[in-house]
Amino acid sequence: MSSKKYKACISGVHGYVPDYVLTNSELEKLVDTTDEWIVTRTGIKERRILKGELQGTSVLGVRCLEGLLEKTNTNPKDIDLIIVATVTPDMFFPSTANLIADKVGASKAYGFDISAACSGFLFALTTGCQFIESGTHKKVVVIGADKMSSIIDYDERKNCVLFGDGGGSVLLERSNDDTGIQDYILRSDGSGSDMLCLRGGGSLRPASIETIKNKDHYIYQEGSSVFKFAVTNMADISEEIMKKNNLSSDDVSYLVPHQANKRIIDATAKRMGVGPEKVLLNIEKYGNTTAGTIPLCLWDFEKKFKKGDNLILAAFGGGFTWGSLYLKWSYNN
Ligand code: UT7
Repeated sequence: MSSKKYKACISGVHGYVPDYVLTNSELEKLVDTTDEWIVTRTGIKERRILKGELQGTSVLGVRCLEGLLEKTNTNPKDIDLIIVATVTPDMFFPSTANLIADKVGASKAYGFDISAACSGFLFALTTGCQFIESGTHKKVVVIGADKMSSIIDYDERKNCVLFGDGGGSVLLERSNDDTGIQDYILRSDGSGSDMLCLRGGGSLRPASIETIKNKDHYIYQEGSSVFKFAVTNMADISEEIMKKNNLSSDDVSYLVPHQANKRIIDATAKRMGVGPEKVLLNIEKYGNTTAGTIPLCLWDFEKKFKKGDNLILAAFGGGFTWGSLYLKWSYNN
């Protein structure tokens, strides 16, 4: 039996990407790659980069939250809680959520960060839901944002073509009807941790001359191994949430997938039996913004959504972490 007092719903969404566009042709000048390779293997044409001194992930979070507050006509002082999903916090501590709360004037809110890599937004969203569903909080902000350029080696072709900077935010409130977050499935498997990680800078390998020489402060990824896990797990978990909720492919209005590789997204859609018209893609514009991809996708396609639409959100990322979430969209535009 459910212990939920209320249903949580997304009552607004807003995103932010920096102005600087890093195109495939610019990357061709930096490393041994081609536009053709990047587009065929990943679907990415360009990505955004946050330039300038002392510009951390909180800048992305503040910009998308300011837009969200304006759009939803929300007073920052009415926010109870801010949860930020990120693997590129401004600092280890204090949390990026704290910094964002301060900068937007959310003086009554508390906040914390969640680290679940590319699945971070789904983990944070389901965490935020609990506070709404139990009735303890009325307005919870969930942000997914990453400044991936801060952990990318632009001398090495494997990863620099994949990632970009950006973030999105949603406001969670009590639903007045049956719409809102219906169900979710989250999973993790630490045995995959070595295949996609940031080796240096933590308590295991604190920053040293050695870690810098070893390039341990840049993202490490065994691309083709991660690809295999991503394809299988993202497709499995998306199918699983459909079965669990008796959803046929006709019932699904849109798939909102993590944007790491178009081929992973295609495999997921195929397993779900949904056609390309239902698959929301913006990977070509932003690349992989890690925790930012799903809220950025909701923001980019918000105008398409109608109240009652069934959305399936799905992600796979470092950890390994993965998950799917089923929601009924709560408003018309
Ligand atoms: O978001 C979190 C989870 N992460 C993911 O989901 C990413 C999963 N992995 C992938 O998306 C893909 O594995 C990549 C896009 C990273 C790589 O695609 P792939 O088809 O698996 O390529 P590969 O790693 O097997 O490499 C194929 C070839 C290699 O050359 P050889 O050994 O066949 O001569 C690579 O050295 O492509 C080469 N290569 C490149 N060539 C041009 C690797 N990176 C590049 C590049 N430009 N940027």
